[in-house]
Amino acid sequence: MSALNPSARPAADLAISFQDVVKVYPTPKGPFTALDGVSLSVEQGEIFGLLGPNGAGKTTLISILAGLSRPTRGSASVLGHDVTADYAAARRALGVVPQELVFDPFFSVREALRMQSGYFGLKHNDAWIDDLLASLGLSDKANANMRQLSGGMKRRVMVAQALVHKPKVIVLDEPTAGVDVELRQTLWQFVRCC
Ligand SMILES: Nc1ncnc2c1ncn2[C@@H]1O[C@H](COP(=O)(O)OP(=O)(O)OP(=O)(O)O)[C@@H](O)[C@H]1O
Ligand SMILES: [Mg+2]
Repeated sequence: MSALNPSARPAADLAISFQDVVKVYPTPKGPFTALDGVSLSVEQGEIFGLLGPNGAGKTTLISILAGLSRPTRGSASVLGHDVTADYAAARRALGVVPQELVFDPFFSVREALRMQSGYFGLKHNDAWIDDLLASLGLSDKANANMRQLSGGMKRRVMVAQALVHKPKVIVLDEPTAGVDVELRQTLWQFVRCC
C-alpha cells in the first residue's frame, strides 16, 4: 500500500492521521515492504472505509495505530496523540476490533470485559458492561466461559472489548467476517449513531 492521500495533516482535531508511514518486515527472503509511504487522515465524525485486497496492508496499518507494531518510518496519531510518543493517550482514545479472534479461554465474558476495563484503569464499569452485553445480544452469556461461545458470539465479545473504555475513535478490522445479519445491522446502526 502506498500514498493514499498526500494532503493528510497531523492536526490535533483529526480522528486519525497517518504521515508517510512505511513498514518493512524482515523475512527469511529479505526485507518485505508492506506499507510504502501511506498518508491519510480521517476527520472526527467521519466514517472511513479502508478497502484493499488480501495482503494490501490494512491490518498492518491498524496495528501501527494500536501501537502493536512500530512503523519503520513515518508517524501516526489518534486525536492528535502520537501513537509512539504519546502512547497511553493515543491508546485510550482508540477502540480496535481485531481481525483475528483473540481471547483468554479461562475467563467468562464478564471477566474478560472487566479485565479489559482494568487495562484502562476502570474499576467500576459493570453498568456500561451490562449495556454493551445487552446491545450485542450477549446478556445471557455474561457468565459463560469464552470457550463456550460460538464464533459469531466471540466476535461480539471482541466488539464489546473494543468499546469497554468508551473510546472516541473506533476501528473495526473486517468487522463483518463471520457475523450474522443481525450483528451486521447492529454494528452499522452503532457506527452511524455513535
Ligand atoms: N509479521 C509479519 N512478517 C512478515 N510479513 C508480514 C507480517 N505481517 C504481515 N505481513 C505481510 O504484510 C502484507 C500485509 O499484510 P496485512 O495483514 O496487513 O494485509 P491485509 O490488508 O490486512 O490483508 P487481509 O485482507 O487478508 O486481512 C502481507 O503481504 C503479509 O504477508
Ligand atoms: Mg487484515
